Amino acid sequence: MANKKVRVALIGSGSIATHRHAPEYAAHPDVEIVAFVDRVPERAQKLASKYGATTVPTYQDAIALDSVYAVSVCVPNAFHAPISIAALNAGKHTLCEKPMATSDEEARAMIAASEKAGKFLMIGHNQRLMPLHVKAKQLITDGVIGKIITFKTSFSHPGPESWSIEGATGWFFDKKQAFVGSMGDLGVHKADLLRYLLGEEIVEAAAFVGHLHKPMGDVDDNAVCLLRTESGGFGTLTSSWTHNPGEDNTTTLYGSKGILRLGTNPQFSVVVELIGGEKQYFELGKMQTNESGGQSDSGVIKAFIKSIQTGTPPEISGEEGRRALGVILACLKSNETKQFARVEL
Ligand SMILES: NC(=O)c1ccc[n+]([C@@H]2O[C@H](COP(=O)([O-])OP(=O)(O)OC[C@H]3O[C@@H](n4cnc5c(N)ncnc54)[C@H](O)[C@@H]3O)[C@@H](O)[C@H]2O)c1
Repeated sequence: MANKKVRVALIGSGSIATHRHAPEYAAHPDVEIVAFVDRVPERAQKLASKYGATTVPTYQDAIALDSVYAVSVCVPNAFHAPISIAALNAGKHTLCEKPMATSDEEARAMIAASEKAGKFLMIGHNQRLMPLHVKAKQLITDGVIGKIITFKTSFSHPGPESWSIEGATGWFFDKKQAFVGSMGDLGVHKADLLRYLLGEEIVEAAAFVGHLHKPMGDVDDNAVCLLRTESGGFGTLTSSWTHNPGEDNTTTLYGSKGILRLGTNPQFSVVVELIGGEKQYFELGKMQTNESGGQSDSGVIKAFIKSIQTGTPPEISGEEGRRALGVILACLKSNETKQFARVEL
């Protein structure tokens, strides 16, 4: 790949393509955006005009383009697996948004397609790339708060209707296209983050996942989950689309030597409180949120392009995406069966 531009196509030209994938590809000196696709052609056209690219009618047309070396899959959740598998089969490195799929079988099929094609599959779990979470990982690895005993994490906001290009009548609220609501939009991000920070798997879940308040749609707008790790610790994960006003995008880890608070302090996104009274404050910038329009760099595109250029498999791989999805699937199963559910590892 030395000295060659990585030519990409964006499949889906809605909000995540508009706010993150397209601007971050465009800002990358080694990338050329070749084509945009959307089932609503005007959306693709708008981005194509802005970034000097072309449009093609369908994803099949995009992945058939010889000039395209990699694709971003930025469409509703139910289409992630079929489109990613087709792209990989066509020999394109694939960056797929989260949640990566609607089932463990689909996720495994995506990974198998990536392995067979010898092309990378990366999943858009951007939370672990955020500076506060990178710092937190370093503090945990350095043993600053000791052994983590329990944890709580929350990703909650008023809902995706002000974010999605389709608004309140869009796919986010339609089970056939979204498969899950707040748990697929938000909960899966925190499942990935917990696995990353704790450095171990979540193996068991008990959860309430339900549609409590939104006037529209047939997917969950709230979830409260108990999670157990493989080493026997446990904690909670909540996701909500009815946290109104504002947002709760926070994680607190309770260790044997102290507490690590992430995103709870408006100025210092990482706070360490040690037993004995010492406090450490780290100012690492605001978290990138949907509310803020996601204007700062997520790091996802840079990581994807770096993988392609260096031939190094992405850290946030298909397998990582499958494990995070597995936590969500176990929560759904627990809610359905009213039993604890094992995570498919
Ligand atoms: N990583 C993150 O933080 C983050 C944030 C928001 C959304 N997402 C994910 O990104 C994906 C897209 O979400 P969004 O916010 O952009 O939604 P959106 O509603 O704003 O846009 C989705 C777009 O996909 C298009 N589309 C639907 N089916 C298509 C198809 N078969 N072919 C081509 N285009 C198609 C729609 O017309 C629409 O323009 C979702 O999976 C979502 O979970 C990730």
